[in-house]
Amino acid sequence: MTKPRPKVIVTRRLPQAVETRMAELFDVELNLTDTAMTEAELCEAARRCDVLVPTVTDQVNAAVFAAAAEGGRLKLCANFGVGVDHIDLHAARAAKVTVSNTPGVLTDDTADMVMALILSVPRRLGEGEKLVRNGEWQGWSPTGMLGHRITGKRLGIIGMGRIGSAVARRARAFGLTVHYHNRTRLPPSLEAELEATFWSDLDAMLARVDIITINCPHTPDTHHLIDARRFGLMQKSAYLINAARGEIVDENALCEALEKGQIAGAGLDVFEHEPAVDPRLLTLPGVVLLPHMGSATFEGRQAMGEKVIANIRVWVDGHRPPDIVLEGWM
Ligand code: DGY
Repeated sequence: MTKPRPKVIVTRRLPQAVETRMAELFDVELNLTDTAMTEAELCEAARRCDVLVPTVTDQVNAAVFAAAAEGGRLKLCANFGVGVDHIDLHAARAAKVTVSNTPGVLTDDTADMVMALILSVPRRLGEGEKLVRNGEWQGWSPTGMLGHRITGKRLGIIGMGRIGSAVARRARAFGLTVHYHNRTRLPPSLEAELEATFWSDLDAMLARVDIITINCPHTPDTHHLIDARRFGLMQKSAYLINAARGEIVDENALCEALEKGQIAGAGLDVFEHEPAVDPRLLTLPGVVLLPHMGSATFEGRQAMGEKVIANIRVWVDGHRPPDIVLEGWM
């Protein structure tokens, strides 16, 4: 006897090949409008599906898991994306819903984007591009568009997981010296390979490096990890790069630090109140802004979708999904 196909509800449009495969495998409900679901819509979906496939733009909060518990069907929340800070994991545990994500497949794309920002901010790529586009460029001059060399500078990486380590490898190739702060120290062999200096004390590292990149997840412990006090520790010539989560930086404190010249610039792919951006960031010099596009490659998004499918299929077959974040049956 064939097993009934699980009811899977997907909250946003996914790459077409992923949606098509899902339609072949599951009783899937796609969101062809691509409009982010409201809380009421997420609750309604959670009540009547076996698997919910949300992403970073959804607030999968306690109300959604309460609705799931009422419906009695939802067993797997298979997130499209690696970050799960938009999912209330306590509420998921209480509702006995397993949560999975898509690690690994967006590491290189995100690390490339971090490197692009590390190059863009000190070398003023955003300003240069605007100058040409606005027809204001008067031609080459010995003193025009001077920025700062990155070769020989010190890079401080906050969060030395997959993405942080991939950034470190790239940074070495550009002649940067790698420093890092992480909950746990890297194994000596990896530290030696990356020629990386470990700082258990984040404050001490911040005061000593030229470029700081945030590559840790957003959790209650890392919320506003970079605040006004920590901007005060940084060098006036320092640059802050964030392609992780906006909430790790107090955006108001960042604007004030830039306005007061406490740091020299920032490269941001993420924002505290996304998609809203503090208007001060739009006018401050030395700032490069991107629309949360770190993992935005066709290849990466396709691979993320394939991971979602694999997690669902393994779960349907009665096994532990490979990319488990939280086991709902524990
Ligand atoms: C992630 O995977 O968490 C990215 O930030 C969004 O896809």
